[in-house]
Amino acid sequence: MDDHFKKVVAHCKEYGFVFRSSDIYDGLGAVYDYGPYGTSLKNKLRAYWWKCMVQLNEEVVGLDSAIFMHPEVWKASGHVDAFNDPLIDNKDSKKRYRADVLIEEQIEKLLGKADKEVAKAAKKFAEGFDEALFRETNPRVLKYNEAAEGLRERYAAAAEKNDLTELYNIIVEQGIKCPVSGSGNWTDVRQFNLMFGTRLGSVSDEGLELYLRPETAQGIFVNYLNVQKTARMRIPFGIAQTGKAFRNEIVARQFIFRMREFEQMEMQYFVRPGTEMEWYAHWKEARLNWHLSLGLDETNYRFHDHDKLAHYANAAADIEFKFPFGFKELEGIHSRTDFDLKRHGEFSGKKITYFDPEIDEHYTPYVVETSIGLDRLFLGLLSACLQDEQLEDGSSRTVLRLPKAMAPIQVAILPLLKKDGLPEKARSIQKELSSRFEIQYDDKDAIGRRYRRQDAIGTPYCITVDHQTLEDDAVTIRDRDSMEQQRIPVSQLGAALADTDLLFLVEKYNERLSKSKF
Ligand code: GAP
Repeated sequence: MDDHFKKVVAHCKEYGFVFRSSDIYDGLGAVYDYGPYGTSLKNKLRAYWWKCMVQLNEEVVGLDSAIFMHPEVWKASGHVDAFNDPLIDNKDSKKRYRADVLIEEQIEKLLGKADKEVAKAAKKFAEGFDEALFRETNPRVLKYNEAAEGLRERYAAAAEKNDLTELYNIIVEQGIKCPVSGSGNWTDVRQFNLMFGTRLGSVSDEGLELYLRPETAQGIFVNYLNVQKTARMRIPFGIAQTGKAFRNEIVARQFIFRMREFEQMEMQYFVRPGTEMEWYAHWKEARLNWHLSLGLDETNYRFHDHDKLAHYANAAADIEFKFPFGFKELEGIHSRTDFDLKRHGEFSGKKITYFDPEIDEHYTPYVVETSIGLDRLFLGLLSACLQDEQLEDGSSRTVLRLPKAMAPIQVAILPLLKKDGLPEKARSIQKELSSRFEIQYDDKDAIGRRYRRQDAIGTPYCITVDHQTLEDDAVTIRDRDSMEQQRIPVSQLGAALADTDLLFLVEKYNERLSKSKF
């Protein structure tokens, strides 16, 4: 594990953001619980998503469908037959891997070698270095890039045909080794279905066999008619929902990046057939803008257009985020065609179509989906915002520079001393602000240590109440990022804390959207 990533994981535990599930029993593989600050951050991320997707879009409505669904749903959706990952075991280490991931890592390795050559040359030739020309002409760079491209094409063809023998051949021919045993002693590649099964009913062997949903999207599809009719929706319109999804991941590593129980925030946008590519482009841009509105550097994000499309899609892209272990998928935007609605129509025997009065036609709507993992979003934000800083006085601090409106605690109230009426005054300010802000009252330890505790959980503002406050009803407010302190009247605190409100971010998002071409 990368050092920074290790630090993020340790910080999450130490400060009550994320714990292993059933921690006192030594945890459960790839299942996690959120502590007090983690819960607050997660709630805010979810609320922000909901405001931007549902509240700001009058044509998008919400849904909260059950985790348990009729077993036919998963046959219709294709998950029973096709929601598989190709797995391979190393016979020496007995470790299990995803064959596709091993190959993708090999492609990244080759591209990394080309980048290394470029970096070496850039250092050597310094100012006169023409990177584009070097990439086009240097034989070693060309060799690595061609090898990566050839491998990508071969892999894409094998994946497309679900050719497990070819995946095995690629792994062996590329000399891919198990990172634990270092050997290339592999089993065949096999398919593994990722859905968790369970049973409904009191008698286990008579009950109906069910799956825990592997995505929230199907709850939206099977409710399409209910929602369209009851909410009187006209195409184009969207249905959004957030909720738990479950996948029996083969390789569940990397903390809350790949979990077996996780939360998704999904929206299905129903459109007239033939217009789906416009909407696909629209939602790609809108979703990237949403991420950028959080205020992290733009270089943390990039699009990755899929070579291999899922069984239901005619176009798909990921918004990738620069996690401590590299760029990885954060959100998927998929043009899912009419696959799901048509299949549910066939399997249920119900007519799932829309009458479009504008063109006087019945059709099965096409769907553009946006799908993001809340836990992944949480991890990305936390790892980008957790920083160690050297201060001018030679000391250091750990600071979590979360977007202010996402901070679990918006403001800390700190009486300078635990006497002379300062706690009482601090408590009265807390009472005044508590209906609008999440506040932490802290009177323990020296003020410097209290600041550090708040920095570590990302609290944007600390308010110090001192003897002067009793006379002039003013406090010192300290900014987490600049550490600057300002004296302001208590009556102005509400305004000074305004940028810790979600509304502040919503406005930023709106501003970005108003400049976009859609
Ligand atoms: N309905 C489409 C769908 O589920 P997906 O790409 O499989 O698409 C969407 O998942 C998002 O869910 C991903 O971009 C990721 O953020 C999140 N996700 C998927 N599997 C996950 C896992 N095992 N742990 C955490 N998040 C996961």
